[in-house]
Amino acid sequence: MSYHKHNNYIELDNVSFSYPRSRVIIKDITLQLVQNEFTALIGPNGGGKTTLGKLAIGILKPTSGKVFICGKDSTEMTLGEISRKIGYLFQNPQRQLFALTVAEDIAFSLEWNGGDRAERRIGIGTGTEIERKVNNMLELFQLEHLRDASPFSLSHGEKERVALAGIFINQLDYFVLDEPTTGLDIERKKILDNILNKFRTHGIGILAISHDEDLVAQHADRIIEIADGEIVYDHSERIRP
Ligand SMILES: Nc1ncnc2c1ncn2[C@@H]1O[C@H](COP(=O)(O)OP(=O)(O)OP(=O)(O)O)[C@@H](O)[C@H]1O
Ligand SMILES: [Mg+2]
Repeated sequence: MSYHKHNNYIELDNVSFSYPRSRVIIKDITLQLVQNEFTALIGPNGGGKTTLGKLAIGILKPTSGKVFICGKDSTEMTLGEISRKIGYLFQNPQRQLFALTVAEDIAFSLEWNGGDRAERRIGIGTGTEIERKVNNMLELFQLEHLRDASPFSLSHGEKERVALAGIFINQLDYFVLDEPTTGLDIERKKILDNILNKFRTHGIGILAISHDEDLVAQHADRIIEIADGEIVYDHSERIRP
């Protein structure tokens, strides 16, 4: 086991990455992400933002260099272990929806947090802790009327909300969100804003990949821009009180 100094929640040390047979997508990036901060990752299409996000949460492993999550080398962690430290929203919400109903989908992600599958199944609809948590999320994201709907029948914005609900049901210290506002209308963006503001007061860290200038302007403590696999801008906007 190689442990590392643990001041940074996520740390990339000289990370380069190519997909199989691809050109170099991430070029020797060194980056530290701390917990008590909202970091916005911006930049042009194809610049490598999603790839960098997946490297940061260990779905992809660096071609060279190292990624440390809470001080531990990501190549030595299982995805289950990482998912108890970092919540991850895929750019395409379709990627994380798979259960038969919206309620089950939101409940399912709790399993990764140490729950038990059978308990979860039974849990739905029987007044358990799980049901309470799922109901809170359904209410928070205004999805109660869709509780028994198939996730695949939903509109894009509804899918995004189910995906967000499935992530935020886990109380974690850090979230990586890839385009969290796509498909959200103004009212639902406000819901997300409120959640992010609450996270701020609790010191929960965020890496948000986004083209949404309002989201970035409203929440970012730090803005990092990458283009063609390199950091071209890295600036702290404000110091937290
Ligand atoms: N599985 C893959 N195999 C080969 N190349 C890939 C793969 N996935 C992504 N790429 C390439 O890597 C580059 C970076 O893609 P990435 O999705 O990280 O960009 P992005 O900054 O997130 O873009 P966007 O703003 O459009 O979401 C692109 O040129 C893309 O074509
Ligand atoms: Mg992307």
